[in-house]
Amino acid sequence: MRIDVISAVPDSLISPLNTSIIKRAQEKKKVEIFVHNLRDYAYDKHKQIDDKPFGGGPGMLLKPEPFFECIEKLLSERSYDYIIYPTPGGKFYNQELAKKYSLAQNIMIIAGHYKGIDDRVRQKFATDEISIGNYILTGGEIPALVIIDSVVRLIPGVLNDSESALNDSLIDGNYIEAPYYTRPAEYKGMKVPEVLLSGNEKKIKEWKEEQSRILTEKWKKINNLE
Ligand code: ADE
Repeated sequence: MRIDVISAVPDSLISPLNTSIIKRAQEKKKVEIFVHNLRDYAYDKHKQIDDKPFGGGPGMLLKPEPFFECIEKLLSERSYDYIIYPTPGGKFYNQELAKKYSLAQNIMIIAGHYKGIDDRVRQKFATDEISIGNYILTGGEIPALVIIDSVVRLIPGVLNDSESALNDSLIDGNYIEAPYYTRPAEYKGMKVPEVLLSGNEKKIKEWKEEQSRILTEKWKKINNLE
């Protein structure tokens, strides 16, 4: 898989993409991630990427030309399965979408910053408008990282057995896992549930299923689901 991200603040993406499992996925050639600096596609004298909005209002908008230049260049090199535009007005992101994107060959993510992007960029190129939740962030970079992280870990061969996504909470978007514990068996007077120390696999399995059922019910209740 190849992922291209276009951003006015590319530095904010570099470190998270070069850490831990996402870093390893790139080293293992399971994914190639390219971060494009919007400013590199501003061809005027001052390399200006933002401007005041028509019709007034506070803040600056990202200008259309650098986005068009960058996106058209990328599109001339390959086709993209999805061109994702993170926006609070988009469809709520979930595990089902992560799975769908993880099957793609090429994905592009257009990150806005400041007040947003001239809407012609969205109109012309976005295939998917995605919100990562009902709150406002300073830009599309964190949503881009959320999408990349959730997608890359689903690419076959990215996670090893012990990290396997097979047992994930929310694997079908509807299920919360039982809690985990490690050593020490007692810490500051807090004990690990006895059954987990028992070695009785059947009992442990039953306990995990029961915990999972309780946590799933609780999760549905606090989120007003069903
Ligand atoms: N940009 C700003 N806030 C956002 C959100 N919640 N989801 C996606 N993109 C955003």
